[in-house]
Amino acid sequence: MTSYQRASNLCIRKSRINIQRLAEAPKSGAFAVDGNYFGFEEGFYEIGNWTSSFFTGMALLAFQETKDKFFLQQVECLQDDYRRKVFEQDMNTMHDLGFLYTLYSVALYKVTQKGQHRDTALRAAELLVRRFDAGGGYIRAWGRLDERDTQYAGLAIIDCMMNLPLLHWASVESGTDRFREIAVRHADSTLKYFVRPDDSVFHSFRWDPNTGAPRGGDNFCGYSIDSQWARGTAWAVFGFALSYRYTRDEKYLEVALRLARRFVHLLDDEFVPVWDFRLPAGTKGIRDSSAAAIAACGFQELLKFCSDEKVLAETTSALLNRLCSEEYLDLSDACAGVLKFGEVGDGVGKARIAYTSWGDYFFMEALARFLGKGESYW
Ligand code: GLY
Repeated sequence: MTSYQRASNLCIRKSRINIQRLAEAPKSGAFAVDGNYFGFEEGFYEIGNWTSSFFTGMALLAFQETKDKFFLQQVECLQDDYRRKVFEQDMNTMHDLGFLYTLYSVALYKVTQKGQHRDTALRAAELLVRRFDAGGGYIRAWGRLDERDTQYAGLAIIDCMMNLPLLHWASVESGTDRFREIAVRHADSTLKYFVRPDDSVFHSFRWDPNTGAPRGGDNFCGYSIDSQWARGTAWAVFGFALSYRYTRDEKYLEVALRLARRFVHLLDDEFVPVWDFRLPAGTKGIRDSSAAAIAACGFQELLKFCSDEKVLAETTSALLNRLCSEEYLDLSDACAGVLKFGEVGDGVGKARIAYTSWGDYFFMEALARFLGKGESYW
């Protein structure tokens, strides 16, 4: 058995336990220093929850690989909660509706073809477009929409590139151009304002919430405004590659490749990146296994269109080989987490080590892509 298959089996084993726990008591389960995601105190309906669906996404990947209906049944146990969140608790949602509903309702619809999952996903897409600021041409990231007097008004973040596939899917599914148009406007604004001439990206960007005038870069997740948060670059690579998949607009492919090549250039022998590529000289930064997993998925998406990118292909394998080593994998079934050494914020500009639910999901997706299992939910 290859190390990729062994790692995939580990993900499946842990997913079997984790999805049952989530179905019994829905919550966000975002990250955990000790790998116990279910000790993380953030409820399913809380506005900050962007992570529940990394567990459902893993369970659906596990279902596609094993055909064991247990996974599907557990995921479907959550359908009333996901529905209620967008139909009854809709003000308590943020731009991460894309992460949440692509890896739940869209994925379930692709797997089961049941109309109720399609309806819930379309409702999530409608809520996401409400966050679009037509003056500035961006999707507002954080905060309730009825809160204007907050630092989050006028703010978009790089992660939002991963929320756009929900809109592209909704456009195709509903035959309504507006979803796609907003996804394109947001991607164009991200290209214009977030991507710097040296092929790095801002974590966030501000517009005047009243006039839509661009204000400048900002930072909540990287080391500083002008630094280069590794996970943010990985979100951008994968997000632009997906925008290319949906639009076939060459400028998205071109920017995804530029950012990917720069990311590769900045890696060292460890391959798993330091959490921010621009820490002050002499700082020994922690690594981020989740950035490595997301980047591997982004590179795989790019390689579907540019199979001659040899360095990208070699780096994808190197990233996955490293993550499949015992140093990074937690082999104990008693631990919910799969990947050690992810990075989470510890106040702006500071980082600490944790297991991350998103790192585990993207690791499993990268393995599934490599092993030719399952279809893409994005
Ligand atoms: N989307 C939040 C993060 O990547 O930490």
